[in-house]
Amino acid sequence: MNHPTSILITNIGELVTHDPELGTFAGAALVVDGGTVAWIGPTAQAPAADEAFDAEGRAVIPGFVDSHSHLVFAGDRAGEFQARMAGESYGAGGIRTTAAATRAAPDDELAAGVARHVAEMRRQGTTTVEIKSGYGLTVDDEARSLRIARGFTDETTFLGAHVVPPEYADDPAGYVELVTGPMLAAAAPYARWIDVFCETGAFEVDQARAILRAGEAAGLGGRLHANQLGPGPGVQLAAELGLVAVDHCTHLTDDDVHALRDAGTVATLLPGVEFSTRQPYPDARRLIDAGVTVALASDCNPGSCFTSSLPFCIALAVREMGMTPAEAVWAATAGGARALGRTDVGVLTPGNRADLVLLDAPSHVHLAYRPGVPLVARTWTASSA
Ligand code: NIG
Ligand code: FE
Repeated sequence: MNHPTSILITNIGELVTHDPELGTFAGAALVVDGGTVAWIGPTAQAPAADEAFDAEGRAVIPGFVDSHSHLVFAGDRAGEFQARMAGESYGAGGIRTTAAATRAAPDDELAAGVARHVAEMRRQGTTTVEIKSGYGLTVDDEARSLRIARGFTDETTFLGAHVVPPEYADDPAGYVELVTGPMLAAAAPYARWIDVFCETGAFEVDQARAILRAGEAAGLGGRLHANQLGPGPGVQLAAELGLVAVDHCTHLTDDDVHALRDAGTVATLLPGVEFSTRQPYPDARRLIDAGVTVALASDCNPGSCFTSSLPFCIALAVREMGMTPAEAVWAATAGGARALGRTDVGVLTPGNRADLVLLDAPSHVHLAYRPGVPLVARTWTASSA
């Protein structure tokens, strides 16, 4: 919902700002003016505004910043999920199934799918979303995936290096040349970021390094999928290249953890994946205690994790990954913002975007305490996600 005029929200039972000075406090009020946070303070001292809204003691938190999703796809893989729940293991090969369906789908079908899932995210409190390509795997299909994603967000990521498509099965080096050459040239105008799935069965570390360097030369910021299915060199590569974020981080050595801390690279944890693949969860506590910045994101995709819900991810992170509710909410808001190199979202402070969530609950703790319950009463956003 857009707010051309000023609005005063009063009687906020708990306002979670993530601003180091304002912190989290009761009895708060907040003024939104022209889509920006204009004032925060006690309800008793609130200034006048064009409109008023009484929060009736409920909690307000920053809108969720989902820094990792794959929403441009056709079809689903419910059968694969069913097989996993019967004992099969997850493998990257299913990406090719979705790529075949995506290539065959017209633009309007792909765009309608993105619109549906972005709306689903919004209903669950997400106000900023990153969207990757990666189910096209041809020059034209990657470019059109990103063009469609750009209709919904500026946080678009070129993931031509998701897997090697079947037509290059005998020539993976040729596919890397395609990705770093004509595919990157066609994708770059629609992308802010470049990503690689660096994992056994997808791309080797040297291929990932070459792809990220080519992306950087084309003006894109680097990010990485790494250490999801097993230990590997991807996290160290992210640290070596000083990437803003590396995602999954499920299997980490002590050296990996130290490298992330020293590089200041955000570890984006995606607990919906471990839920949906029945794998052990990443150890958020170990990362936080070591001084690594942790973000939580959905990884919404039709294969490894088909949830769009950050409240669900927060509940998993608290129950299974050793995070406190406050840490998990921070990771899904301010942490996601850090993972996207953003300071204008994820933190409620005067001058920032007025992307807020009103919870049907008195505190942020209820997001983990009441899992599966739709607690997002409404959102306010500066503009579309
Ligand atoms: O982040 N790991 C690679 N990519 C996605 C899964 C994509 C799929 O299985 O379709 C992920 O989990
Ligand atoms: Fe992913």
